[in-house]
Amino acid sequence: SQYQKGVKHMYENGIAHVPKKYILPDAERPNVITEKSSANPPDQLSMKLPVIDFAELQGPNRSQVLKSLAYACENYGFFQLVNHGIKDEIINNMVNVSRRFFEMPLSEREKYMSADMSAPVRYGTSFNQKNDGVFCWRDFLKLVCHPLPDVLSHWPSSPQDFREMAVTYAEETRFLFLMLVEAMLESLGLKNREKKTESILNDVDADEDAIFKELEDGSQLMVVNCYPPCPQPDLTLGMPPHSDYGFLTLLLQDDVKGLQIHQDNWVTVQPIPGSFVVNVGDHLEIFSNGRYKSVLHRVVVNSVKCRISVASLHSFPFTSTVRPSAKLISETNPRRYKDTDFASFLEYIKSCDSKKKNFLESRK
Ligand code: SIN
Ligand code: FE2
Repeated sequence: SQYQKGVKHMYENGIAHVPKKYILPDAERPNVITEKSSANPPDQLSMKLPVIDFAELQGPNRSQVLKSLAYACENYGFFQLVNHGIKDEIINNMVNVSRRFFEMPLSEREKYMSADMSAPVRYGTSFNQKNDGVFCWRDFLKLVCHPLPDVLSHWPSSPQDFREMAVTYAEETRFLFLMLVEAMLESLGLKNREKKTESILNDVDADEDAIFKELEDGSQLMVVNCYPPCPQPDLTLGMPPHSDYGFLTLLLQDDVKGLQIHQDNWVTVQPIPGSFVVNVGDHLEIFSNGRYKSVLHRVVVNSVKCRISVASLHSFPFTSTVRPSAKLISETNPRRYKDTDFASFLEYIKSCDSKKKNFLESRK
């Protein structure tokens, strides 16, 4: 049908009303008090997430920053990462080339459409365009990023600098992710940089080294999102409420608000230019035996500006079984999750439409 061509195409052809296919039932509408013709939801609904300074994490205040990190992951499931060390140029290039990708004619973009969920490159619209009863206001490009040499030749060759920009960005993000994993393990009391040299005599860190190694070879998926202006943003969503299945997600967004996270209410995240929004995924919630939270989030759209975001999802290898760390299970804190693997996640996701996307609830 025409909806399979995506919302960018529909927007470019000019529409005054949101088609029925995109209209959510009353109870699921974003209920944002949209100031008409404002690109940004009003401020009383916005929040500043905890901010983690990555440079400070690498310095003498590491233990203090690790405490803030633990607090953010326990209470918000989200934080903003500043001073992360990835050059502005690399960040800006990624946002720009993503924008230029979506500005190409549909005929160029739809070359990458695929029904195969595991294709190295997949262009699409909505959340799960095969299953969604109600469509959401998003077009996306999904790129498998690991191992890079196997997938690179499938990545878009236009815009002509796309691969170059996206590869650099993917590699830098992967490196940053691994530095964050080290900090996460340490913040859970599982690994200690200072103790490294003792670990031959005392293998207290052996499990955590194994986890780190697994994640070093883990999967990385980049999802480049485009949310065009929407004539009636209060009737639809850019992305339905969902949690991310992986270990951590590093999200880059342009200056247009849209991401909302579920606390007591839905609150809008205030973008900090050049920063990452980092969130705990299902794998980390399970691994931490529920101490760190994989929190529901969604995307609202606006009637004025196109929003671009790039999510880098990092998880255990597809062949791994994910389970709570033995060191985080005790008599007073019993095991809270079943073992899970990627196959059961895929099974679950195939069975959903955009209304329910909370895998964890089905695994506890
Ligand atoms: C996501 O939840 O993966 C994307 C969020 C966004 O576009 O801000
Ligand atoms: Fe997400």
